[in-house]
Order: sequence, then structure tokens, then C-alpha cells
Amino acid sequence: MNFAHLVVQRLDALAQISEDEGGLTRSFASPAMRRVNDLVGSWMRDAGMSVCTDAIGNLIGHYPAATPAGKILLLGSHLDTVRDAGKFDGPLGVLVALACVQFLNETKTRLPFAIEVIGFADEEGVRYQSTYLGSRALAGTFNCEDLKRTDARGVTMAEALREFGGTPDAIAAARMDASRLLGYVEVHIEQGPVLEQKNLAVGVVSAITGQTRARIAFVGEAGHAGTVPMNLRRDSLCAAAEFVLAIEELAKDRSGLVATVGEITAMPGAGNVIPGQTKLSLDVRHPDDVTRSQTCDELKLRADEIAAGRSVIMNWETVHESAAVVCERRLALLLENATKCHQGEAPLLASGAGHDAAAMAAICPVAMLFVRCKGGVSHNPAEFASEADIGVAIEVMNDFVKSLAKSK
Ligand code: GLV
Ligand code: MN
Ligand code: MN
Repeated sequence: MNFAHLVVQRLDALAQISEDEGGLTRSFASPAMRRVNDLVGSWMRDAGMSVCTDAIGNLIGHYPAATPAGKILLLGSHLDTVRDAGKFDGPLGVLVALACVQFLNETKTRLPFAIEVIGFADEEGVRYQSTYLGSRALAGTFNCEDLKRTDARGVTMAEALREFGGTPDAIAAARMDASRLLGYVEVHIEQGPVLEQKNLAVGVVSAITGQTRARIAFVGEAGHAGTVPMNLRRDSLCAAAEFVLAIEELAKDRSGLVATVGEITAMPGAGNVIPGQTKLSLDVRHPDDVTRSQTCDELKLRADEIAAGRSVIMNWETVHESAAVVCERRLALLLENATKCHQGEAPLLASGAGHDAAAMAAICPVAMLFVRCKGGVSHNPAEFASEADIGVAIEVMNDFVKSLAKSK
């Protein structure tokens, strides 16, 4: 069986399952996520796993250990996507994990530990901005207040989850028993250029950056575009525009900091009406949590100053915060050794992107393997990883699993 080819075929099949026509979008608890869970669940069963979907919508396949007392190794990634996504970010990690289990099943191999392959329900946070919903539920760090959040159409997270077939009331009980876990290991495209520059297929992740996401609103006064003089306006969009540039200026000035406004909505949204209310998203990341937190405080002050200078009101809601996470040395070392066997060297890479591993670190050791992606491009339909590199990732993961079994 050519497992790399199988993974590529499956990535293509999943890329067809979208809530948007003409582009790939799968957001939390959407009908597209239900269809993807059904399809990946059927592949899991074919690979000898028992399958369930938990209270928040994570898909979990269980491949038993040689003895019932065996602990559990978690492998996987997320099955949700950003808007107009590429097909590798997330699904690659689920499908490589599945290929490893399929190999074990076909060779009738049982390990001293069970393997659970997880397709997380939400890592991107597109629908509710609050991200890692799936992995935080398993780690026991899900904030049940988040269930009241509304999406762009006013649907609460609890309503969306019930519609999906999940059980909001049971999320607290979805927490995994940390004492049974050996660790969580995730394969993911690099989303950066380093492996391409080094001409290497895979690399081992050293740490995952921390992030803050906020929803900000500037509230001024709507009015007639033809009759309200410029000096009497309280234009919320002009305040937001000034703030967006202030964010860029501050981020450029601070080493290691990245800050992004990716969504902006001006209301009521007509060419001849002064925008009365403007909402925007903010995403701030830095490898050092103190720097990130200080930066957010400074940005909030700046937003207040801009609002005061324009006689508008500013509301700031922090919707997500996750600390930077260092990958566990012992698991990372096993990945490094397996990587060296296949490509001679094992570069260590820091991740500027967020990953479910960051949330899972609350209950177990975590490690990650990055796969080279073309031009470092991601969150873009042009995202690409080659079948040959995916093949190397599968072999490294097979060796990693074997070496972990030997060390048990
Ligand atoms: C997820 O891809 C993130 O880093 O935002
Ligand atoms: Mn992503
Ligand atoms: Mn991802």
C-alpha cells in the first residue's frame, strides 16, 4: 500500500467538502464538518478503530493496545479550516496519523499502548473567534461561558453545537483522563519557509507561540454622507482605520511581534451613510507571553486615545488567550531521531501558528512534526505539500511510534 498516495487522495476528497461553493471553508459545527467527520470516521473504522464523536464534535478513533491496561498515545490535528482555505492545514495531521494506524492494523501489530486519532472540531476559531474549542474541551480548559458567544448570524455556540448533534451540557465531562495519556503528537504543514530553504522534507517543532484575539468595536454616529460637515462627524470607520495603522506601526517596531486585523465590518454599510459602528478583529502573537500581554495593554490604550480624539466610544473584548508552549523534550527527541534516520538532519523550528498541541499541553506532553510546504504559503488555496514529503512524514511517524513502544 502506498500510504502517501492514499493520504493525498484523501486530502483531495476532504477538500471537496465545504460550506462555500468555489472555495474550501469548514467552520465549527457546520454541516460540512458533519460530513467530514462521517467520511474520516469511516476510514478510521476501515483501519481497525472504534469511532465516536464527543460532546464538542471532536472525531476520535481508538486503536486498542496489546493489553487493556495500556496507556494512550494521542495523534491528530483539526478538520475545520479557515475561509477559502488550502487543503493541508489540519487534515494532513489527521490523515498521516490514520495512515500510521492503518499500517499497524494491516501488519496486525498491537503496541503496549493504544493510539487515538483525533480530528479536532475547531482550531481556527473562524466561527466564534474563540479558538481550540475541540482541544480545550479534551484538556478540560474549555470555558463554558463561550457557549453564549454568537456567530455572524446571531447563532449561539450552544445552539450550533446542538444542531450539529453535540451536547453542550456534557463538555465538562469530555475532559480526558491525564493519567492515561502518554502524550499528543501532531503532524502539520510548516506554514513558513525554513524547510524549503534547507531543502528538507520535515522538521521538529521546539515551541508554539502564544496568542491573543480580541473583538473591538468603535461606536460613533451614523449620518448623511452629503450633509454632515467633516468637522462634525463621529465616523467609527475612520477611528478603526487610524487604529489599524497604529497596530501595524507598533508591531513593526517590536521584534518577534506579529499583529493582524483580518476582519472589519462597517455599519450600517451603505455608500452614502457615515459608518456609525465599526467592528474589527485583532490577532496578536509573540513567543514571550509577557511581551504579548504588555503589547495588548498598549494597544488598548492607543485605541482609547484614538476613540477619545474622535469623540467615539471604544469597546474591547478579549475573546481568546493562549500561552506559549514548549514541546516536551523526550517526545521531541524521539521525533528528532526518527527524522535523522530519514533525512540526515532534524532541524528544530518554532511555530508562529497556533496548534491544538498548545491546548493539549495542559494535560499531557506534546510534540509536533512539521512538513515542508511550498513557498511557506498557508491559509490560502495555494497551500501545497508534496506526496514525497508526506511519505517522509508517515515514515518518521511510523518510526516514532515504534521507538516509543520500545521505550515503554
Ligand atoms: C491557526 O492556524 C492559527 O495560528 O491561527
Ligand atoms: Mn490554520
Ligand atoms: Mn492548523
